[in-house]
Amino acid sequence: MAWQGVATVVTGGAGFLGSVLVAELRHAGAAVVVPRREDYDLTDAAAVRRLYADASPTVLFHLAARVGGIGANRANPGRFFYENMAMGLHVVEQARQYGHLRKLIIVGTTCSYPGEAPIPLREDDLWDGYPEPTNAPYGIAKRALLVMAQAYRVQYGLDAIYLIPANLYGPGDDFDPESSHVIPALIKKCVDAVESGADQVVAWGDGSPTREFLYVTDAARGIRLAAERYDDPAPVNLGTGHEISIRELLLLIADLAGFRGRVVWDPSRPGGQRRRRLDITRARERFGFEAEVPLVEGLRRTIAWYRTSREARARVSEWR
Ligand SMILES: NC(=O)c1ccc[n+]([C@@H]2O[C@H](COP(=O)([O-])OP(=O)(O)OC[C@H]3O[C@@H](n4cnc5c(N)ncnc54)[C@H](OP(=O)(O)O)[C@@H]3O)[C@@H](O)[C@H]2O)c1
Repeated sequence: MAWQGVATVVTGGAGFLGSVLVAELRHAGAAVVVPRREDYDLTDAAAVRRLYADASPTVLFHLAARVGGIGANRANPGRFFYENMAMGLHVVEQARQYGHLRKLIIVGTTCSYPGEAPIPLREDDLWDGYPEPTNAPYGIAKRALLVMAQAYRVQYGLDAIYLIPANLYGPGDDFDPESSHVIPALIKKCVDAVESGADQVVAWGDGSPTREFLYVTDAARGIRLAAERYDDPAPVNLGTGHEISIRELLLLIADLAGFRGRVVWDPSRPGGQRRRRLDITRARERFGFEAEVPLVEGLRRTIAWYRTSREARARVSEWR
């Protein structure tokens, strides 16, 4: 598939993953439109219809979502369900009504996997149980979109594919403690402790759960490759195939950030699903995707970005 001049919409294209994907697609020559929430609220069917009419896309990547870490998911289960469900529902149904999409790429989440699924998480095990309760409303809303995409392919010939990236991290991530995922949360704690001279950091849970992390530029490349080469209703994991416990992750981040103090685990806070590691065979076999950025290198870049962006923000506020 050649991208030169291809009318492409990336919903959520101003977000963390979206902005990296947009850069990747523009670099390949695509003519990319990024609808912002203030102009096109995708929870509103009429706004989604207007988006298709205004942008006349040939390809649409659906990334827009209400996302967050365990704390944000637990505080907003209704909102996470409704907004993710409504956005997906309208994006897929309006794609059918619009009728000119050559490809629709839907980005799902590992939060859709059953809480007790065997490791590695295989795409075919997606339906073998209920997701871990802390993120189930988000995970189920996203899982339902897979069914919708498959049903629309059968009944209306909609060429929709569905990808499931591992937990993402990298420069540009959300570092707000109210909504951040585990890597930015731990980086912020360690870097802030070094700067303030604090001798301890407090982390959620007991550190034993494991997660798999995919660097954001790897994820964007995987999504582009899938759009170019994959055309099948079966969902596909995007990951590295490596898992690390949160305890080991924190030690690594503390080391890279130069934090030498004590780590206190707070078991009253939830740790989420016990283990997550993806089976990455399908992405490799079907569209040749392999992650390239090792975790240590990705963490180093993310910590450096966090430090620089904070310094830049501090300089701006000094000038005001
Ligand atoms: N982050 C991860 O670790 C991770 C892992 C696996 C999968 N994913 C998936 O990857 C996708 C992107 O995640 P992200 O972390 O990049 O999220 P993000 O930074 O929070 O970006 C989400 C984007 O969605 C847009 N959006 C939210 N509600 C909207 C609405 N009602 N109407 C229009 N746009 C709306 C926002 O647009 P505005 O900027 O205009 O408000 C925002 O740019 C999501 O589908 C997520 O489920 C993420």
